[in-house]
Amino acid sequence: MVTEITISDAERKMLSEAGYGDPAINYYLEKKYMGYIEDADKISQKIGSCGDIMKVYLKIDENHIINDARYEITGCAGAIAAAMVTVDLVKGKTIDEALKINDGDIFKVLENIPEKKHHCIQLAVKTMHKGLKEYKTEKIL
Ligand code: FES
Repeated sequence: MVTEITISDAERKMLSEAGYGDPAINYYLEKKYMGYIEDADKISQKIGSCGDIMKVYLKIDENHIINDARYEITGCAGAIAAAMVTVDLVKGKTIDEALKINDGDIFKVLENIPEKKHHCIQLAVKTMHKGLKEYKTEKIL
């Protein structure tokens, strides 16, 4: 007998078996902040130690509040999930508050990802911080 399963069911099962927590899987499948912002106030990019690339787009208002962010990513499920969480954590915060967000904060939301994927969290955070720091330098904040 063949059981019909959807692609996302199959992905969910594979990721769960690989050690991804449910929140991490949901963030990865939903990809709610993947893409770009046409009129971004800042665009920045970083290449991870694995060779994968992340590009971040930021919308920042006159009070230095991050109104929106998007990522374009050539990377793994861990990188995508971590980047999506990063956006959720920085949205509505000031640049300086967002610069305090660290890998541990992202990991807490993800609940779990395989240990060999922890550098992917770093890539998401470092890319965000790079964009924010560059914005600060350019605007001399
Ligand atoms: Fe390259 Fe995860 S971002 S392996």
